[in-house]
Amino acid sequence: MTEAELYSVYKGVYVPKDLHPPESLKYCEDFAFRPDDVLIVTYPKSGTTWMQEVVPLIVSEGDLTPVLTVPNWDRVPWLEEHRAILLGLEQRPSPRVFATHFHRHMMNESYFKTKPRVLYVMRNPKDVFTSSFHYYGMASYLVNPGSQDEFMEKFLDGTIIFGSWFDHVKGWIGAEEQESILHIFYEEMIADLKGSVEKIAKFLGKPLSPDVTEKIAEHCVFKNMKQNKMSNFSLVPEQYMDQKKSEFMRKGIAGDWKNHFTEAQQQRFNSVYKDKMRDVKFKFTWD
Ligand code: A3P
Repeated sequence: MTEAELYSVYKGVYVPKDLHPPESLKYCEDFAFRPDDVLIVTYPKSGTTWMQEVVPLIVSEGDLTPVLTVPNWDRVPWLEEHRAILLGLEQRPSPRVFATHFHRHMMNESYFKTKPRVLYVMRNPKDVFTSSFHYYGMASYLVNPGSQDEFMEKFLDGTIIFGSWFDHVKGWIGAEEQESILHIFYEEMIADLKGSVEKIAKFLGKPLSPDVTEKIAEHCVFKNMKQNKMSNFSLVPEQYMDQKKSEFMRKGIAGDWKNHFTEAQQQRFNSVYKDKMRDVKFKFTWD
């Protein structure tokens, strides 16, 4: 199926129609934030699910119950997704934890007034590409990626769901409300998960004992988290996600792009990256 059939355009960006029907987008537009809300913001395939595991465990101080009993999409709901309407989010006790793939310019008025806390997770765009390429091949609500060359042009051009990686990252790293945002890299979580848990906990005003930090990091390491039925998307019917084609928890490493890019693809990606990021001073882990 084509983009026109599967996607709609919201605030200039493609979103999957099925997951984000007009009433969901309206709900999201009208949503009232609280200052102590925690918002996990990501471009898709940058570590959303990982954070949906880490943050609830920090809030519960290492009690595994929430992550072992509630699917990630209800535990940390995407505000733009149709399920958000059904979950009674207005009644949830603080601190509420949400996820969104929105660009900063797509956030509603309440966000800019209230300035809830944001964890902005970034990942090397080449790995985001590789992860997305596999994901688009197994998820039926997304347009089939075609060849790697074809999908690369769409990725670089931002004609995929949630638009351009470059615009997403530039919008959030350039946000005025920097004091309420913690920037965190997928690669730093891979390199030092315990240190990352500590850093996030500190940002959330919830310092943890070394034992609890250790317990959270141990549970959230790829090979362990992959076993959690509430987080590995095995509850999603095969007609939506065919994990026989590619698992959702696929590899969980930094640098897998090197196993997939040809020399020409690497050059093409680098040249577009250089052009689009030429005015950006921010220090990324992969530069
Ligand atoms: P790969 O396809 O490269 O394996 P998102 O949740 O934003 O959709 O991102 C999915 C990516 O994060 C997938 O990447 C997935 O394997 C990876 N991921 C999920 N949990 C992880 C964990 N605990 N450790 C490392 N990577 C994880």
